[in-house]
Amino acid sequence: MPIKPSKITPEKIYKKRRTFIAAGLGILALPIIDKGYAMLNTQQDGTDQPFPPIESMPEAADTVLKPTPLETITSYNNYYEFGYGKDDPGEADKTLITSPWSVEIGGPGADNPGIYDIAEIKGEHAIENHIHRFRCVEAWSMVIPWNGIKLADIIRSAQPNSKAKFVRFTTLNDPQQMPNAGWPGGPYVEGLTIEEAMNPLTMMATGIYDKPLEQQNGAPLRLVVPWKYGFKYIKSIVKIELVEHMPHGTWWKQNDREYGFYANVNPRFDHPRWSQATERVIGERGRKPTLLFNGYADQVAHMYPDPDNRLYFY
Ligand code: MTE
Repeated sequence: MPIKPSKITPEKIYKKRRTFIAAGLGILALPIIDKGYAMLNTQQDGTDQPFPPIESMPEAADTVLKPTPLETITSYNNYYEFGYGKDDPGEADKTLITSPWSVEIGGPGADNPGIYDIAEIKGEHAIENHIHRFRCVEAWSMVIPWNGIKLADIIRSAQPNSKAKFVRFTTLNDPQQMPNAGWPGGPYVEGLTIEEAMNPLTMMATGIYDKPLEQQNGAPLRLVVPWKYGFKYIKSIVKIELVEHMPHGTWWKQNDREYGFYANVNPRFDHPRWSQATERVIGERGRKPTLLFNGYADQVAHMYPDPDNRLYFY
């Protein structure tokens, strides 16, 4: 007889999971529990859907970005290993042991593999500060002042060889430290092309507002890719592999009609269940237009030669 989730999951999480299953809309949802999605899923490949010409895309008007307050950044989160609700990760007990913390860097594409402690990684590479727009695939956004290391610096230390075509990242998945580690999408995996990983915008964040990352934001090390949807920003990374084949990320694997590999922000291509044209700025009133590549087209568009190819944008 199958074990009931209530037997293996803390009660609070179990109750929230029931709410999540019942809601099933407006948030990242797993296909096994999202019964409504097939019927709403009419724009999946986008090929036969009309969309505005690329010239009509809004320009990044907000050249001076106003960072979201730290309190908001640390209390409105997606971190399913700590529960499905937006407030669960922030409210969870601080059970994640982030020091010491080992990161394994290797894979067939690395000539200099190794296991490093987070303190070593932070000590070896320059910490930079970057204020970036953050756009979740659920159509909300924030502005985050990150502190972190260029991923390119970490990859260069691993001495990539010709097999390093993609980078695959894995989150810790430990039920002792994460109350909802048993969720169907775990362990959380994400990936980038090697070119994306070497782009100067791509960071491994270690802090926000000059403070170490909080557990709910992916302590002690999480990916930042400002031109992509938030689900690419994998948290609490324990493994970085340089690999030959395109990594199958958690959301792509769970629901390939709604989420893919590239997940570049694009207001022209709607999610099957909601529009991506505008976004709700958390902590502010109203919505604002979403920008192509989240406003970073100048730095990243060259990596995606066909802006009408929907594969780049889901
Ligand atoms: N990483 C892990 N391991 N588990 C997750 O549930 N959620 C992703 C991403 N990284 C997630 C994750 C999603 S959907 C988003 S929008 C961002 O983290 C949210 O980051 P934040 O909570 O710091 O705002």
